[in-house]
Amino acid sequence: MTVFNSPYFDGHELVAFKHDARSGLRAIVAVHNSNLGPALGGCRMYPYANDDCALDDVLRLSRSMTYKSALAGLPLGGGKAVIMGDPSKNKSRDLLLAMGRFIEDLGGRYITAEDSGTTVADLKIIAESSSYVSGVLDGGRHGGDPSPYTAEGVFHGIKAALKFKHGSADLADVHVAIQGAGAVGRHLISLLILEGARVFAADINTRNCELARLAGAHIIACDEILGFAADVLAPCAMGAAINADTVEIIQAGIVAGAANNQLANAAQGERLRQRGIIYAPDFMINAGGIIDVYYQRAEGSSASTSAHIAGIAASLTEVFERSAASGVSTAAVAEGMAEERFLLGKHTKVA
Ligand code: NAI
Repeated sequence: MTVFNSPYFDGHELVAFKHDARSGLRAIVAVHNSNLGPALGGCRMYPYANDDCALDDVLRLSRSMTYKSALAGLPLGGGKAVIMGDPSKNKSRDLLLAMGRFIEDLGGRYITAEDSGTTVADLKIIAESSSYVSGVLDGGRHGGDPSPYTAEGVFHGIKAALKFKHGSADLADVHVAIQGAGAVGRHLISLLILEGARVFAADINTRNCELARLAGAHIIACDEILGFAADVLAPCAMGAAINADTVEIIQAGIVAGAANNQLANAAQGERLRQRGIIYAPDFMINAGGIIDVYYQRAEGSSASTSAHIAGIAASLTEVFERSAASGVSTAAVAEGMAEERFLLGKHTKVA
């Protein structure tokens, strides 16, 4: 394992490793950039095949948090933590407390939150041994779960893209295809249907298909969703949904969904632009969760959280306009805007 030669090392400020013999904890925290504030990002627990996979993941994810928070106008840097292990087998109270001590030892340079493989209940245990934990408030509309806020941001982003492409954000009879009816996807279905959209959803999990159907979506096959003839495609499952093969079959004029790392690589962003498809960069449109987590820590009101999330629409519109004017993909434009903010330390609140 080499940190500095990893393909995902990008001038990260801090990479810290922890082993706790008693609980079996093996974890890595990465702080990518803290120019705008302390690094905030989730703590993922996953049975990585080896140390290199865990390191690559934490380097990649912490970098994207820097971009996400900068574009969301939050006074935060980018960080992430990974725990190596199977959450269904290796998670224990002792392990989570040891993780908390690890985070506490970093003195506030990294603030943790929920991520895949960890729950709000786990975060509450981590918070027993660290004060640098966010997203554990019982109050608020959703009791610490960020996914409804992420869905809210995606909903605003879809409307911004419709307005930019068609001149109207009206969702009545707009057809939206959603890949992945999990926590975010299902909230998104409800928000869209409330405003009159027709929603088509696919999920590999039959129970989640059933829940999506109950929420009002029409269920279609997983291998048909990306090429489905809809107005909007919302990838809300796993990363790299848009790759060299799938980018050519997309029929929707807008791609706007929650999944992280939707583009397999930058070439797909450019290909979408060439095909005249408006792509809402994932690290902008899915910032609702981090905005909620930030306000929970700052003890902001639910009104300020919602107002800030609604501001994602204006930021995305700026990206669409700059992309159209420059002929550069929306993803590249958004990365440039983020760098303007965190490299120059310019903090611009979006709402
Ligand atoms: P989830 O795990 O609750 O839902 C994902 C769903 O996708 C599951 O129902 C799964 O069965 C389905 N799925 C997986 N592969 C599929 C495939 N090939 N075709 C169709 N369905 C498939 O996850 P959640 O929380 O809803 O997140 C969705 C995406 O959004 C993830 O990429 C996540 O990283 C990203 N995200 C989530 C945030 C949150 O607040 N939960 C915040 C920012 C990003």
